[in-house]
Amino acid sequence: MVLDLPINPRLDRLADNPFAKLRELFEGVQPRSNEPILPWAVGEPQHAPPPMLARILAEKAELWNRYPPPAGTPECRAACAAWLTQRYRLPLGMVTGERNVLILNGTKEALFLCPQMAVPQEKAGRVPTVLMPNPYYNVYNGAGTLAGAEPVYLDCTRETGFLPDLDAIPEPVLARCALFYLCSPANPQGVIADLAYLEKAIALARAYDFVLAVDECYCEIYDQAPPPGALEACAAMGDGFDRVLVFHSLSKRSNAAGLRCGFVAGDARLIERFAHLRTYAGAQVPLPVQEAAIALWGEEAHVGANRALYRRKFDIAERMLQGRFGFYRPAGGFFLWLDVGDGERAALTLWREAALRSLPGAYTARTNPGCENPGKRYVRLALVHDDATIAAGLERLLRVL
Ligand SMILES: Cc1ncc(COP(=O)(O)O)c(C=O)c1O
Repeated sequence: MVLDLPINPRLDRLADNPFAKLRELFEGVQPRSNEPILPWAVGEPQHAPPPMLARILAEKAELWNRYPPPAGTPECRAACAAWLTQRYRLPLGMVTGERNVLILNGTKEALFLCPQMAVPQEKAGRVPTVLMPNPYYNVYNGAGTLAGAEPVYLDCTRETGFLPDLDAIPEPVLARCALFYLCSPANPQGVIADLAYLEKAIALARAYDFVLAVDECYCEIYDQAPPPGALEACAAMGDGFDRVLVFHSLSKRSNAAGLRCGFVAGDARLIERFAHLRTYAGAQVPLPVQEAAIALWGEEAHVGANRALYRRKFDIAERMLQGRFGFYRPAGGFFLWLDVGDGERAALTLWREAALRSLPGAYTARTNPGCENPGKRYVRLALVHDDATIAAGLERLLRVL
């Protein structure tokens, strides 16, 4: 849409919202079957949040009238630091709430704001680059573009282990890099970056002087072993958290996507700058929400129970899809990434013939010159509903594809 107004032209480059594209694809197409619609395109947790969440919000209701501190309360920041320390076995005192943590309205806002902090006018005499995996979480792309950087989409294919190939990034791109987003466990493919991979990415950030932003918001939804984190890699390497930020959320860990609460942690110098930026651009997290967050970061039983429910869904998927559509059991996250040959065509068939909404992989990825779009062959399905619904949905999929 062209507006006859002097608005920011960079906004026009963001015309790639995957769900807008999906609406367009399905426009005028009604499912032929009258089975209930299965909304598996969106990765929205469906399990109930732990009862303590509503209880604490009610108990702390007298705090709604107060403006919260922009960086978060000292208690909430300390609770996040304590969780990081035990989750990633960090040396005691390496991460502190006061120096290394900011409380957020979910990670989305800070993933967006990060390049506003990290991207200078120029790097190596040219427009800076913002690197991201391809497919990507849409916010990385929008954030880099609106900050005036050149987004660089690093293809993640079966051949690269579904992570960016760190050895294949051209030197001039690294020299201009201001910010590199990584996501582990990765949305959509569910692969986990191991410690050696994270260490290599951190070494690149230090050698080429850029910020490494690691989106770890799926880190508690895993199949076998807890995914390692970038702060853990920092602890193994030495030099503190130099140039590294990690993003964590209660949305998936505690089924609290509507609470809008997460945090960013890492390099104290970056956290200080980020806090400064957020005094302008980030809304404070309400005090009752921070009180609930303290409890949720401090309690692991509900997280383990949640993980067990996801494992059951993938047991069902493994049983039903083994050997079909390049099925593999993702190490983390809650998405199926199925090789269906042509993701857009398959999504349309699934919708028309089975009332099953999926996301064509190409809608969350860009096509690099001379390459195939790394999402083209795939559909993404969020496995978030109850076991019977999962089984019924996969049965429909097997019926029509
Ligand atoms: C990869 C990834 N990062 C970040 C987010 C944002 O999560 P939230 O803002 O709820 O913390 C999402 C949400 O779906 C996501 O898929």
